[in-house]
Amino acid sequence: MLLLAIESSCDETAAAVLQDGVNLLSSVVDSQIQVHSPYGGIVPELASRRHIATIYPVVEQALQQAGVRLDQLDAIAATQGPGLVGSLLIGMSFAKAAAYVENLPCIGVDHMAGHLLSIFLGKDTPSFPYIALIASGGHSSIYIVHDHLSYEQIGQTRDDAAGEAFDKVAKLLGLGYPGGPVIAEKAEKGKREAISFPRAWLEADSFDFSFSGVKTAVVNFVNRAKQKNEELNIPDICASFQEAVADVLVEKTIMAARKFGIDRIVLAGGVGANQRLREHLTFRALEEDMGVFLPPKHFCTDNAAMIAIAGYHLFNSGRYEADSIEMDVYSRSPVGI
Ligand code: KG4
Ligand code: ZN
Repeated sequence: MLLLAIESSCDETAAAVLQDGVNLLSSVVDSQIQVHSPYGGIVPELASRRHIATIYPVVEQALQQAGVRLDQLDAIAATQGPGLVGSLLIGMSFAKAAAYVENLPCIGVDHMAGHLLSIFLGKDTPSFPYIALIASGGHSSIYIVHDHLSYEQIGQTRDDAAGEAFDKVAKLLGLGYPGGPVIAEKAEKGKREAISFPRAWLEADSFDFSFSGVKTAVVNFVNRAKQKNEELNIPDICASFQEAVADVLVEKTIMAARKFGIDRIVLAGGVGANQRLREHLTFRALEEDMGVFLPPKHFCTDNAAMIAIAGYHLFNSGRYEADSIEMDVYSRSPVGI
């Protein structure tokens, strides 16, 4: 069974070919970092334009690397949402057109389902059910993943997502975009305990997150230092901020695993590429006698391979719209995913 998947929900144009649901034949990602970095964040209109320019070559490259022709495919999957509508429409329209020409099913995949299943792209895979933490640029959520097709969200961010907080703090410190990788790099030379930034634990039984407080605390810290003409220790600020974010992500995830009696934890989403978060989660999970499963870093950030995994399971179970030409994209996830 050969499936082509397309991802274009945000600032990556990506395509992948998956064989029999397990064998990844190719995964191509065109990142738009250079397009958006002069603006310190994603400019939706520029994202759409870049997707239009790159979708064809990216898909062509994915097929070529896989050694597969369009007429050999059994299905095409594309991210349906959540994300930027203009960007989603480009990947989805391309997928629909190609599927129409080849008379193939076109399967709409939820981007979050892709992140939740990205762990199956690695070597070490969990059994069901597992607790998954998705920390990305748009989401910070905890899920119970019951099987390949059913996911239960038990916590989400009430304001900024973890990745968004990294991006905003990096912008404030003049470190560029995207913020996650550059903060992680600076943090390597800093002291985690140098500055005590706040941790928003919220209500005792809540698995929700809030990262706007820690972001504001960094803003205030920087402003105070500037008023006093003190020099900023960027590595210390980065290390202390990163620790505050990682602490809450890790402890809430462990708390959820304990509450639901599930001893397998999966990390996903762009912030999941953060080395300190990976180490901290691994350490805490081992302390609690829980198994921790980390996807390779390049499958944490947006890619089409994870969309292919999710698309394959929808295809296999027949859970896709027969009349896919009518399928629309969505900017926010429908309830339940
Ligand atoms: O999952 P993703 O590629 O896109 C969304 O679905 O949002 O996540 C992108 C986010 C950005 O906010 C970026 O700053 C963050 O992931 N990120 C990181 C790291 N690499 C990417 N955050 C912390 N540490 C990293 N190493
Ligand atoms: Zn994502």
